[in-house]
Amino acid sequence: ATYDLLVVNGVVVTDQAIAELDVAVKDGVVVKFAPRGALKDASAKRTIDAEGGYVMPGGVDAHVHLEEPALFGKGSSADTYETGSRSAICGGTTTLITFAPQTKDQDTLMDTLHMTHAKAVGNCYTDYSFHLIVANPSARALSEFPSLRAAGISSLKIYMTYAALQLADDQILDVLLEARRNQITTMIHAENGQVIEWMTKQLEQRKMFAPKHHATSHPPMAEMEATYRAICLSTFIDVPILIVHVSSPAAAAHIRQAQEKGLPVYAETCPQYLFLTREDLDKPGFEGAKCVCSPPPREASDHEAIWEGLRNGTFTVLSSDHCPFLYDNNETGKKSCITDEFPVGHFKYVPNGCPGVETRLALAMSEAKLELKNFVTVTSTNAAKLYGVYPKKGALLEGVSDADMVIWYPPGKMAEFELKNEMLHHNVDYTPYEGRSMKQWPRYTILRGEVVWDRDGGGLVGGKGGKFLERGPSTLKGSVNKEEWDVRRW
Ligand code: URP
Ligand code: ZN
Ligand code: ZN
Ligand code: ZN
Repeated sequence: ATYDLLVVNGVVVTDQAIAELDVAVKDGVVVKFAPRGALKDASAKRTIDAEGGYVMPGGVDAHVHLEEPALFGKGSSADTYETGSRSAICGGTTTLITFAPQTKDQDTLMDTLHMTHAKAVGNCYTDYSFHLIVANPSARALSEFPSLRAAGISSLKIYMTYAALQLADDQILDVLLEARRNQITTMIHAENGQVIEWMTKQLEQRKMFAPKHHATSHPPMAEMEATYRAICLSTFIDVPILIVHVSSPAAAAHIRQAQEKGLPVYAETCPQYLFLTREDLDKPGFEGAKCVCSPPPREASDHEAIWEGLRNGTFTVLSSDHCPFLYDNNETGKKSCITDEFPVGHFKYVPNGCPGVETRLALAMSEAKLELKNFVTVTSTNAAKLYGVYPKKGALLEGVSDADMVIWYPPGKMAEFELKNEMLHHNVDYTPYEGRSMKQWPRYTILRGEVVWDRDGGGLVGGKGGKFLERGPSTLKGSVNKEEWDVRRW
């Protein structure tokens, strides 16, 4: 056969264009686009009839926690590389960038990287890479940035909160300067950890322990202040940053203002800030605890501003921040963060994070609040550009891009359904979106020309063929000045 795969009768949507085109794939790469019907005499090992459905580059989810140690208490995040990447591919995501978490007692980053490789290799349904979490920017760790780049890693994450990870401002400056020298993108969790600790004590003094008080303990002010501080520090060093999981319009406004000045400040938001509210933390029994994440879901009246940020470019990417924990402890038969003293959980002991790697694309597609090209831009293309895998990923360019595709149902083909956790493929017993009405779901997911997800033809039909991606530097706008950073500038 001339081709390995043909996708015919689809409407191809990329960040650039929407067109009725047939797609030909050979050796895992998109090799040809042709007007609808023009390839009807070509031979292919397999042909998929998209029946008028949208054909998009596969999703790139650049914020996923797999097999990570809990930041307080015992245990680790629930999904392994196998279950997390399985969940991703069943939801239309073909590339994951997960985290390789250094801890404060570790001096080096390279051990962390090697340990994370060992967890992932041979276990992934998607292609994958890692961001290094820098918890201890020791002289040795900073000296390893060139080695990270040589190993295909071009991004890292730092934290302004969580005792186990929080960096002081001078440590942040150390990381940013070394990141600048090595063309590494720094992701920043921007919440003021001391404000959160102070608020937690205030709530405890008042015996306010319920999960809903997690939201009170993480006020928008703590996020806004840290966001503005992160922008100030990165502007001082003149280096691009990405503020992760932005939840509040007040933080988004500071980001927008920086972008309008031409600064390379990028930002991410997540479905939990579009679909959940702080009231979800007040669901009965243990259901509220399952929606605890940081920053917390905000007010319903904030959602529209977050959608608008996705439309106007304030938010570069829409990621999942998939970080679920299993709350049932099989040994004790109790919830792992529940004690006799705190029967529905003390908010400060509830592990932070929600599942979402499988529902990210379908939720946003079903809601239909983003133009199609905008949807592709924030769920795929921009992540590929920012993290240095474009146009291999995040695009469908002839002869260049991997044949990673998500194919949606044509109008009228899929019956609207109520989402149930049992439909999902993660290793968790809940989804915060239980019962939500879904108008779309990926019909097929294709990784480098192989159909891995076929919703009506067996579901998960592919194997663990995911490969590690060596990444280069960001191709989005970088430092304003190209010369070396110099103290004398200030
Ligand atoms: O609540 C969250 N987001 N948990 C995951 C860890 C993080 O900060 O992204
Ligand atoms: Zn974070
Ligand atoms: Zn996260
Ligand atoms: Zn299934």
